[in-house]
Parts: sequence; C-alpha cells; structure tokens
Amino acid sequence: MNHLKFNYDNALNFVGKQDIFKYQEAIDSHFITIRERTGKGNDFLGWTDLPSSVDDTLINRIEAAASRFREKSEVSVVVGIGGSYLGARAVIEALSPHFNLLKKKAGNPVMLFAGNNISEDYLDELLQVLNEKDYTLTVISKSGTTTEPALAFRLLREHLEKKYGKTEAGKRIIAITDREKGALKQLATEKGYETFVVPDDVGGRYSVLTPVGLLPVAIAGFNIRELLNGAQNMAALSATSSNIDKNPVAAYAAVRNALYVKGKTTEIMVNYEPRLFYFTEWWKQLYGESEGKENKGIFPAGVSNTTDLHSMGQYIQEGRRNLFETVLSVENPKHNLTIPTDEANPDKLNYIAGKRIHEVNHMAELGTTLAHVDGGVPNLKVSIPEVSESTMGELIYFYEMACAVSGYLLGINPFDQPGVEAYKRNMFALLGKPGFEKETEAIRRRL
Ligand code: PA5
Repeated sequence: MNHLKFNYDNALNFVGKQDIFKYQEAIDSHFITIRERTGKGNDFLGWTDLPSSVDDTLINRIEAAASRFREKSEVSVVVGIGGSYLGARAVIEALSPHFNLLKKKAGNPVMLFAGNNISEDYLDELLQVLNEKDYTLTVISKSGTTTEPALAFRLLREHLEKKYGKTEAGKRIIAITDREKGALKQLATEKGYETFVVPDDVGGRYSVLTPVGLLPVAIAGFNIRELLNGAQNMAALSATSSNIDKNPVAAYAAVRNALYVKGKTTEIMVNYEPRLFYFTEWWKQLYGESEGKENKGIFPAGVSNTTDLHSMGQYIQEGRRNLFETVLSVENPKHNLTIPTDEANPDKLNYIAGKRIHEVNHMAELGTTLAHVDGGVPNLKVSIPEVSESTMGELIYFYEMACAVSGYLLGINPFDQPGVEAYKRNMFALLGKPGFEKETEAIRRRL
C-alpha cells in the first residue's frame, strides 16, 4: 500500500492545468523509454528494478555483516562521498533519535561519517574520538579511486591496524566497491576484507537501495526489508500508469517542468522535521547532479523550518521571484508532547496550552505555505504519514523516478556527471599528481 501523497493545488495560481498536462504525451513516452532502457544514459537504469531485484541471499548477507559489526561497535564509521554517502546518511538520520545519548540507550552504535570532506580538523578530531571507542569501518567507493574517501580510509586503516593489529583490523573493515576494478577492490582482495558490490548499472546517486545504503542502514539498526518494501510499493504504483492524474511521479515531474519554463528556476525542498535535513541533502545531490547540465536545470536548494524562517524566510517571502517550494510534510511525529499550562502566563503562551507541539508546527507549516504563495512562490507538497523505513523507501523511489522523468523532459542525460571532473583536474594539477605535468605547469602560471 502507498502512503506518499503529492499535491500541487498551491501551484495552480502560477501554472494552469494545461501547462502541466501538455507534458502528458512526453511523460508517457519517457516512462516507456525508462522501462525499455532506450534513452540517454540507459546503461545506468539498474536502480529502477532495485527494490525487487535485491534478492534474499544478498539481504541475508547484509544483515549478517551488520549484526557482526554491531556486536563489535560502539561507533561505526562510514567512509564515502556523494552518492556513496548521502543516501545512507539520509535514511539513518531520518530514522535515528536526534541525540547520541538516546541512540546509545537503544543499543545502536553511533554512526559517524568520513571521506566526505578534506578537512584536517575533521579527520583529526574523528581520530581522537576513535582512540576512545571500539569501532568498525565501512568504506564505500564505486570507482575505488575518489580522493576524499581514499584519503580518509588511508588514515583510518592505519589507525585501526595500530589499535587492533592487522588481523582484527581486517575483520573490522567492509569494502563496498566495483565487482572487479579499482584500487579499493584490489586493496580489499589483498587484505581479505569482506566486500559488497555496487552494481555496474547503478550510478552513485541512485545507489541507496544497493549495499551502499543498505549495509550502513542495517548497521545503524534499521529494517532494510521494510525500506525495500516501501520502495517496491512506489515502484509498483509507478508501473501501473504514467498518467499525471494517477501517478505522483508523473505529476511532480510535469509540474516542476511547467514551473521551470515560467521562470521558476530554483526549487526549495522544505522540511519541518530536523531529522529530514540529510534527506534534503540527498535530494539536492540527486537533482543537482542529474539535471544541472548543458546550461539547464532547476537549482535544488533546501531549508529546514521553522529554523530557516528566521533566516532564509525573508528571501523566500520577498526576494527574487524565481522560486518554488516543495514541502516534505510529515503528518504524525513519533512522540507525543503537550504544551503545559502556566498560571502566571509570563510568556503569554496559555492560548496554546494543552495543544500538542506538533499542532503548532503544523500551523507554522500551513501559515508559511499560504504566506509564500501570497508572496509569489508556488508550493508543492509531498506528504507521508510518518517517518519510517517504509515511507523512506517510498520517498527514495518517488524522487529517483521523478528525477529520471524530469531530466528526460529537460532533454538532458540524468545519469552522467561530466561537470564534476573539472575541479578534480585542477586539484590534481595543483598537487602535482603524476600524469598531470602539463596541467600543473598551466595552472601554476595562472596563480
Ligand atoms: O553520483 C555520483 O556518481 C557521485 O556523486 C559519486 O557517487 C561520488 O563522486 C563518489 O564516487 P565513488 O563512489 O566512485 O567514490
């Protein structure tokens, strides 16, 4: 059964139904293109079948590896960047308690992340924490050659080997990488690490339902079968029809493109639950890296409310009118907290005494939506009944499929990322990497 709902009523002051439904024919044909794998980037469509193609043998292996790691870990570190990082972090942060003290109480290891920056302070402080804790390490890199995770892994591997000795360190490391190529695969084979494979036909940012996301999520103590079931429910719904009226994937792809051609070139994903902060980060990568090419694409931004209503709220209400918002709305929180009465009423809050905190949050959401619509910002709404493994699975598949369809509507290849190479070439040239001698000379002349 599907729980996710999509509503675009608050965009209809800005785009007419005809602007949206004019995409129906193209959407029908892109659904076929995706199913038959005949469009741009069709070598990377393995994610479309993932919720059902991850078989029981693989799930059992992931669960066994996760429980082996959980027994050994006060802390479990996940090393990876981009698509080899954000999906796992998004799901783990969404499902975890907000505070580490509560995570420990639930018997789950504290999950820490590395290899997603090159900050010396970050890495040094991480090593200081790991001096004091029993820990395990999952290193994830599809190519096996990305600088940030390779660097972090070199430091952590050395730290683990010093702390536990080479044999035990080897049992505390799992590598997730290509089936046969790359430096990480080679190292894992030499050292005898347990390994999982990133399928060839799944690109990094679409890989959360492979071991890349599933293993860290299982180590963190969450039910990966439910996550896959949720995704499968959305895949099944999406397979039944490409009709904008029936399929939320088709509707979201159509509406955002209709807004884009009317000059709404920035989409802000809005959440009112801090646990969804990293889900927004995952979404920003998925849409930014998939659509931002050939001088086209909607710029994906994110805000966490009500925090950001006291900062970005001003711009959204009255700044440049090239924005639209998509609110990721959660109908029910996990807990129940009522506002107490205070007879003296010094803060004048007695008018809401007896109400749940969530009701205040919900009214903030409704009030903000209407204020922003009045201010010229169209509003889309994706809602889920609660944050759970199953609804996270639905959201993941919904956004992945909509990204593919939306990218095809834009006329680009949503599955490549040629633009991310430019900074790497400059960095390698500046660092004097062998093989980059000419670039080194050229770039040094520019400094
Ligand atoms: O989506 C992508 O393909 C990228 O964000 C990659 O996931 C990221 O660059 C990390 O690559 P790798 O897994 O090869 O280390």
